[in-house]
Amino acid sequence: MSAYWMGIDVGTGGSRALLVDETGRIAAARTAAHEDMKMERPLWAEQRPENWWDACQQAIRGVLADAGVTGAEVRGVSLSGQMHGLVILDADHAVIRPALIWCDQRSQAQVDAINAKVGKERVLACIANPVLTGFTLPKLLWVRDNEPAQYDRVRHLLLPKDYIRFQLTGELASEVSDASGTALFDVVNRRWSYELADALGIDRSILPKVYESEEVTGVISAAAAAATGLHPGTPVIGGGGDQAASAVGNGIVAPGLVSDTIGTSGVVFAHMDSVAYDPGGRVHTFCHAVRDKWHVMGVTQGAGLSLQWFRNQLAAGASYDELTREAATSTPGARGLFWLPYLMGERTPHLDSTCRAAWIGLTAAHTRADMTRAVLEGVCYSQKDCLDIIAGLGCGVETVRLSGGGAKSPLWKQLFADIFAKPVSVLESQEGSAFGAALLAMTGTGAFASVTEACQATVREVETVLPGVGSPFYQRAHTVFQAMYPALRDSFRSIDSLS
Ligand code: XUL
Repeated sequence: MSAYWMGIDVGTGGSRALLVDETGRIAAARTAAHEDMKMERPLWAEQRPENWWDACQQAIRGVLADAGVTGAEVRGVSLSGQMHGLVILDADHAVIRPALIWCDQRSQAQVDAINAKVGKERVLACIANPVLTGFTLPKLLWVRDNEPAQYDRVRHLLLPKDYIRFQLTGELASEVSDASGTALFDVVNRRWSYELADALGIDRSILPKVYESEEVTGVISAAAAAATGLHPGTPVIGGGGDQAASAVGNGIVAPGLVSDTIGTSGVVFAHMDSVAYDPGGRVHTFCHAVRDKWHVMGVTQGAGLSLQWFRNQLAAGASYDELTREAATSTPGARGLFWLPYLMGERTPHLDSTCRAAWIGLTAAHTRADMTRAVLEGVCYSQKDCLDIIAGLGCGVETVRLSGGGAKSPLWKQLFADIFAKPVSVLESQEGSAFGAALLAMTGTGAFASVTEACQATVREVETVLPGVGSPFYQRAHTVFQAMYPALRDSFRSIDSLS
């Protein structure tokens, strides 16, 4: 009987299930779309965990059918998923309310209250990061402050992919890389920060058991087997937050390696053998999905989201390919047009939940091609802000491995190389998180001795794009971009106070 392993990625737009064979070669992959995020107010974002589970069941059944593989041939399953989302369950394990997801920015008052009560220095000592609105803890406190009846019912807190683990195995569990993004996790010692939970009056018992990413956390239950076609008893391995899992899929498992993944968000990610912090907390220091290793990452909240929003709202009917080909007809700098990609506030480098997106420099002469190009360039400038901070922490940056949407368009790849002023490489597998999860499943079941060995055996660079003649121009344009947010910060605050 052949052997396969499955990686499941619970993304924002959809859930993807992917199968690899015993060499780590991808046999098939299937995505099932999620409902759109519900945005009841600007900068709020919710999704229904039950919808993720429906999508996962479809994706799992679909990929097994596509590959002609039976559940019994799958030796292990692992999970990756959008980070930071708040999934709360009651005593009967029912979902209490829709999840406040990673880009939801409603919890600034709770962040301020945590800092006032515990003190910023002590927070940093507990979790190695500042608390940000995007993280899970202030979202939980938002529910406590605004929906007390719902909060009283909370018995379990889970992250998005861990809700799927619960559906697959019946186990309430997480792993170190995703737990790092809750703001309740002691990243240095790889365990919950009971000190912070206690200081804020959060019941320790709601926190799930935490594993290393390559450990077995449970097995497929009979009910999940009936729902998905997987085999009862198949081990389910810890997995990772989408960024750590994507880093495994991209082979970012040794010092000096850096990746950039453009999904809904955009993330620059570097491996670390030991813990290092940005004193300003502008990049996150989290546990890696590699045992006893860490990573640092800078996040642009609205990266792929910028292009998706632009297409949906202003270029309906156009494909991403058409739009990016059209953008190539504009010129570097989009004829003096800039896009600030702050559609969902911003994390790196501004840590500002109130800032908003904008085109700056728009004139009647500008065309859709210029606007699209400005969007692509604005995302690259913002990711360059992340890269510069990470380089400043001493993570050597020789080449940046690009994956996700940004790696698909020839123009966007060249823009990344030009704006980063670094070679940008593209890998044979563009699967990122789901592939990384599958490699963790292989490692967790002994098919590879370590995550590093899994990456060495399977990750291959197939293309390198060098900075071109446009690069010096873009270094000057990046400086112009960087001056825009400080000039607008007070206006963003005023807009926020109006809404
Ligand atoms: C990482 C982050 C995003 C989400 C959605 O900190 O918030 O990558 O996980 O992809």
